[in-house]
Amino acid sequence: MRVTVIGTGYVGTVTGACLSYFGHRVTCVDNNAGKIEQLRRGEMPIYEPCLEELLRLAAARGGIDFTTELAGAAAESDVIFIAVGTPSLDTGEANLCYLEAAARSIGAAMDDAKFRVVVNKSTVPVGSGNLVETLVREGIREAHPADLKLIRFGVASNPEFLREGSAIADSLYPDRLVLGAEEGRTLQILRELYQPLVDQTFDAPAFLARPAAVTQVPVVTTTLTSAEMIKYAANAFLAVKIGFANEVANICERVGAEAPEVMAGIGLDSRIGARFLNPGLGWGGSCFGKDIQSLLHTAREYGYQSRLLEAALEVNQAQRQLAIQRLQEKLFILKGRTIALLGLAFKPETDDLRDAPSLQIAERLVQMGARVKVYDPVAMPACREHHPGLRIQYCDSAEDAAQDADALVLVTEWRQFAALDLGGLAKRMARAILVDGRNLFDPETARKAGFDYCGIGRPQRAARHNVATMPTHTS
Ligand SMILES: NC(=O)c1ccc[n+]([C@@H]2O[C@H](COP(=O)([O-])OP(=O)(O)OC[C@H]3O[C@@H](n4cnc5c(N)ncnc54)[C@H](O)[C@@H]3O)[C@@H](O)[C@H]2O)c1
Repeated sequence: MRVTVIGTGYVGTVTGACLSYFGHRVTCVDNNAGKIEQLRRGEMPIYEPCLEELLRLAAARGGIDFTTELAGAAAESDVIFIAVGTPSLDTGEANLCYLEAAARSIGAAMDDAKFRVVVNKSTVPVGSGNLVETLVREGIREAHPADLKLIRFGVASNPEFLREGSAIADSLYPDRLVLGAEEGRTLQILRELYQPLVDQTFDAPAFLARPAAVTQVPVVTTTLTSAEMIKYAANAFLAVKIGFANEVANICERVGAEAPEVMAGIGLDSRIGARFLNPGLGWGGSCFGKDIQSLLHTAREYGYQSRLLEAALEVNQAQRQLAIQRLQEKLFILKGRTIALLGLAFKPETDDLRDAPSLQIAERLVQMGARVKVYDPVAMPACREHHPGLRIQYCDSAEDAAQDADALVLVTEWRQFAALDLGGLAKRMARAILVDGRNLFDPETARKAGFDYCGIGRPQRAARHNVATMPTHTS
């Protein structure tokens, strides 16, 4: 099929790459000319493991190109995806201006040559499917009013569940595919488009083997409204689950229980599940916060107050402050101290800094008069670019950051940090204090290495035995 994807961010580029890898002919469109130029040169505007490799294979399969011009691509396409950003407004409401512009441009580009499906992949408030249809019609009316009755299209919602850092694996081997539409023809076209994915008939790329358990991808077919709601409900649930782990960890600290042991104990219950139960400095990223805000806003519009979701946001905010509290407990005064932060990205394997806890922690420390040194293996260029006003010192390595620091705070659980020589780090520091904001290190090992260690939900007493920490998931 011919496919256009509007928006070459984390979602759009990955969607385009996967569909083209399945054999479809894809054009990715963005109004950011710089990004398009980079993609044309084969450079990645974002850090996402395996994306560059997949794009290379995709070009040789279905074919993929990048442009700032929507009109030609949209006119030729059978399916047009909208994957533009939907950030929060100050009110918490989703800002739909990018979506609206994209939908109108699609309308303006359409002719009556064929039936087309406009698919909304952006996360949008319930009811936006209808909005897209209205806006596409407006676009047609503005550009060529005489054709309004002749131009045929369907609108679908196909929410995206990929996680940055493992976006390609999540897209090639997803847990499910959600397709929301009101008419059979639209669904039929999407089923055809996704057939290689659903039946897993494509050859797995050499760099990303197909998990043995993945033989068929379940398809959930719903109304537009349900599909839109599924996306919000999934993110809200995950954020609440992490928030729950953090709440329990805070109680654990007070009563002397080990949160990682408690989480291991409840996670084995098949009704609960082990993932997203690692206590830490709170979740971040471009989705959880904005999507909960947007869902709360929609609920309020319908006269409903969701206390649970409001609490999830509050608990998360408080959790981020734990880093500062721990430092105050250890150092008393932060003014004039040097604090080293390990990790800036909101989670490992991405350079995304949107709503990253690190930024809030760094800002607060600077406000309190501390000097802040940071090291992140990937996200430092993005931080320099997007937060030029942040008065922090970028370091070349974790060792460089730790040098002469009064405390070290592990903010992002990059895998390479787990392999650090803790003894070597401790020796470089003015005071060997380690605030392990993601429970990445074994407390006993850290203490033996010379650190005054504190984690989250790990009371400060001699550990009875080593607890296998569970994988962390922040978004
Ligand atoms: N990032 C994630 O992990 C993730 C996961 C699931 C769902 N989502 C949702 O997917 C959507 C996209 O997220 P993202 O992280 O990829 O966003 P992003 O900000 O990384 O990318 C959006 C892109 O759209 C482009 N754009 C905006 N308006 C345009 C227009 N009119 N025409 C062409 N291009 C335009 C921007 O220049 C940008 O490159 C959001 O609604 C988000 O909530 C994101």
